[in-house]
Amino acid sequence: MRLTGKVALVTGATGGIGAATARRFAAEGATVVVTDLDEDRCAALAEELRELGAVAEPRVLDVSDEEAWRRVVAEVAAALGGIHVLVNNAGIGRFTTVESETLETWNEVEAVTQRGVWLGMKHTGPAIEAAGGGAIVNVCSIFGTVGGFGSSFSYHAAKGAVRVMTKNAALHWAQRGVRVNSVHPGFIASGTLLERTSGTPRERAMLEGTPMRRLGRPDEVAGAIAFLAGADSTFMTGSELYVDGGWTAQ
Ligand SMILES: NC(=O)c1ccc[n+]([C@@H]2O[C@H](COP(=O)([O-])OP(=O)(O)OC[C@H]3O[C@@H](n4cnc5c(N)ncnc54)[C@H](O)[C@@H]3O)[C@@H](O)[C@H]2O)c1
Repeated sequence: MRLTGKVALVTGATGGIGAATARRFAAEGATVVVTDLDEDRCAALAEELRELGAVAEPRVLDVSDEEAWRRVVAEVAAALGGIHVLVNNAGIGRFTTVESETLETWNEVEAVTQRGVWLGMKHTGPAIEAAGGGAIVNVCSIFGTVGGFGSSFSYHAAKGAVRVMTKNAALHWAQRGVRVNSVHPGFIASGTLLERTSGTPRERAMLEGTPMRRLGRPDEVAGAIAFLAGADSTFMTGSELYVDGGWTAQ
């Protein structure tokens, strides 16, 4: 119960890693603000968490929309008494290369995967400080650090930005009680990744390239997020935690 008494907002919370994080946070005693694009899916997950005995609030939040951030942070602070934890989990990618990337795909990916993380930190950080301190966990990727397969170009650009924005924001808030760290998953068996790669050469390359020779599970990422969100990591800020079956050790 590492998050008892904490209010935690998770973005992209109805996807694979987001839902596992919301469930883990609920099990750790947090009040969970379940945010994503689809109202019904947010409501269903919040209901599931309530049935497990947690306090949970659904909110529609498009992370690329600054006005939506303003509204949701104000509503949550008023309704739940503050925010202590933010998980910037929403992210999208496109199978592009440096040559095939278009301005349209670049802007699409940047808006969610990079801008969304900045807006989340910008609008939630002050609320976390006002509530007496807490933690921001940015869900980055091994692709924020290494070049991967030489594809998903804009995704790499956005995740690289997330990795360094994390460190910059960590320094900004270092003496003000807001810790900021990043989690870097390798290949995780979440719905979208499986749908897009199942049976393709990419799936084989992911498995063969991962020293543990398996995909990770969303709950294995959620465990690392819960660690960085809670009281077991209070001297950690600006750090990056890899959950990748050994990929970046190579
Ligand atoms: N699955 C992997 O292998 C893997 C690896 C490394 C990093 N990640 C990162 O983990 C995070 C979660 O990934 P996942 O595998 O659970 O993906 P997912 O596709 O299952 O979930 C992503 C969620 O983000 C939501 N979303 C999309 N655009 C949004 C927007 N504008 N505003 C708010 N929410 C939005 C989607 O509705 C979805 O519920 C992402 O940032 C992803 O880049 C995933």
